[in-house]
Amino acid sequence: MTTKPEEANGARKERKPRPQGLEDWRQWPNYEAATLGLRNYWYPTVWARDLGDKPQGVKLLGENIMLIREGSKVYALHDRCPHRGVKLSEGKKVFPGTVSCPYHGWTFDVTDGRLCAALPDGPDSPIVGNVSVRSYPTEEALGLVWVFVGDQEPTPLRDQLPEELFTHDFVAAGRITPGRYGNWRFAVENGFDEGHARYLHRDQAFMMFRQMPGWARTKIVASEDGDWLFRVQESVEYESDFPGLGKWPRRKITQVAQRKMTPGEVGKRLDPTIKSLNLPGHISVRLPGLLRVAWTTYLHFEWYVPEDENHHRYVQYAVRFKTGLGDVAFRLRYWTYIRWLFHGKFTGRDAWMVEEMDAPPERLFRPDVSITRWRRLVESAFEPKREQKKPSAAKKP
Ligand code: FES
Ligand SMILES: [Fe+2]
Repeated sequence: MTTKPEEANGARKERKPRPQGLEDWRQWPNYEAATLGLRNYWYPTVWARDLGDKPQGVKLLGENIMLIREGSKVYALHDRCPHRGVKLSEGKKVFPGTVSCPYHGWTFDVTDGRLCAALPDGPDSPIVGNVSVRSYPTEEALGLVWVFVGDQEPTPLRDQLPEELFTHDFVAAGRITPGRYGNWRFAVENGFDEGHARYLHRDQAFMMFRQMPGWARTKIVASEDGDWLFRVQESVEYESDFPGLGKWPRRKITQVAQRKMTPGEVGKRLDPTIKSLNLPGHISVRLPGLLRVAWTTYLHFEWYVPEDENHHRYVQYAVRFKTGLGDVAFRLRYWTYIRWLFHGKFTGRDAWMVEEMDAPPERLFRPDVSITRWRRLVESAFEPKREQKKPSAAKKP
């Protein structure tokens, strides 16, 4: 993938001084409005293996949605019975191809949401055929159930997902956390945030064998198709003298066995498939809120799926491009420590910050170019030249 430099963090490019006091989100109006997420995108919901003919309820972009499997297909309906507002996901399948509300047994066709029986009113109930609930486009892919939330014709799911997940065989393992506290935008911003890892995660067990830089000069570059933004480190510093304060970070005894993480250094040991992707930086982000972290041997993805103003569904997904024995080895690795130390403890500390964050107002500093570029990426999706893919900010129902 070729890239073009977009913006430098630091001396590369003269930047206009940020106006003092402009610390709200007015300069990203669509982003500011997108409290409930971006419509007209596919969102991951639950593991496909966990969805059977017992309905499950999820919340996406402020909308309650019921998921159910019928044969080899999955379906999604608005999770609200039009009769008295009870959740259909509390009901069950009484007849094939349908779901019945638990209260009075109104029975809906799962394929299109049409009311096909109102059981306690008899087979000739006049309401049948006159009521329906909204149905949502669904897909099953990558072991996940996807729902398209929007008002336009759905774009092909594959267009909105990392291409490498369709062009290579791999094994995946992960963790889905519904109801993670914090607005989805804080979660994305934390994911792509340039500065925090070196401070927040420095002492975590998952980093035990990696020596973390103290700070770095970073630029943000976009992929040629404009879909991804990458954080690219131009230089890193491992120990610096802070005038009047002293050295930071200080070396600890545990760092003796640590590997330095310097630009280019990781590339030597990189998994061949990951290497073939030619990613210019090991952390990248794309719409509608997907982070990709390229570790040396596997890719880690995380989707931040908006639920409501203060919650998102957090989908962590680790991918190793191996089959056969390599597949088994990665599963073992995942279940023995990655799930616990990375998808649990490490990202748990992110969850703490996403929960604590409270902005605007805010006062950004140099590394926050990662955050402002992400916000600009969202804004650019609303521009006329990308009309085909135009999202809209989700409104409160
Ligand atoms: S509320 Fe659903 S059938 Fe009455
Ligand atoms: Fe983090």
